[in-house]
Amino acid sequence: MAANSSNCYEDADRANAYATLEFANTYYLAFRDLPSILTEHVTGTRALDFGCGTGRSTRFLRKLGFHVTGVDIAEDMLRIARAIDPSGDYRLVPGDDFNQFAVGSFDLVLSAFTFDNIPAAMKARILRDLAKLLAPSGTIINLVSSPQIYTHEWASFTTRDFPENAAARSGDLVRIVTTDHQDRRPVEDILCTDESYRAFYREAGLQAVHLFAPLGSSDEPHAWVSETTVPPWVIYVLK
Ligand SMILES: C[S@@+](CC[C@H](N)C(=O)[O-])C[C@H]1O[C@@H](n2cnc3c(N)ncnc32)[C@H](O)[C@@H]1O
Repeated sequence: MAANSSNCYEDADRANAYATLEFANTYYLAFRDLPSILTEHVTGTRALDFGCGTGRSTRFLRKLGFHVTGVDIAEDMLRIARAIDPSGDYRLVPGDDFNQFAVGSFDLVLSAFTFDNIPAAMKARILRDLAKLLAPSGTIINLVSSPQIYTHEWASFTTRDFPENAAARSGDLVRIVTTDHQDRRPVEDILCTDESYRAFYREAGLQAVHLFAPLGSSDEPHAWVSETTVPPWVIYVLK
């Protein structure tokens, strides 16, 4: 199915449900290895959390010692981020216009799940604009859903009602339901293969210097479904 450009997070009910998610189940695997990845690949503490949502990833970075600005295009999500974390810095970036930030002013841009929602036609332009915000030694960490997430069952998600996901090609719309919160309406994402991401990175003048595909381990306290054999997430380290 062709992708549209609407953002399913511009919705008060979705935002309220999303705010209840923390780091359990499949989401645990998205964040588990980030501290060591950041220690290895990031110098400095000035961070931009691109697509901060209700602030989960922003607060995560702050706890690791980063000075973070969270940005998003969904006011409903930002309103909750500010309510949870009144001393945090959360800003709306309509049209992904980053002119309010100085060129070269961040050591890290973290994008946690944000590119899952961005149409293919916009990805390279946004990556290029984010790259301009990086200091010369800066790093972009792009944490995204793996293509396999949309065709398997998970501790935090189900896709069984969307068999059409299996035929989706890169750039197509795919659907997934989060079972960890109350809002059982499907999230509409844009499938993006590794090959497509690498083409977007090249177009944006970025290079993927590392790729992580975290798997669950049987000694972890989560009811893993596919997580020990199929990676739900891909974490790109971009320079
Ligand atoms: C799945 S949520 C992730 C939120 C947060 N990073 C976290 O880890 O909890 C994705 C967020 O990306 C935002 N988003 C989608 N497209 C965006 C865009 N073009 N620019 C900025 N934010 C965007 C959505 O509004 C939503 O808040």
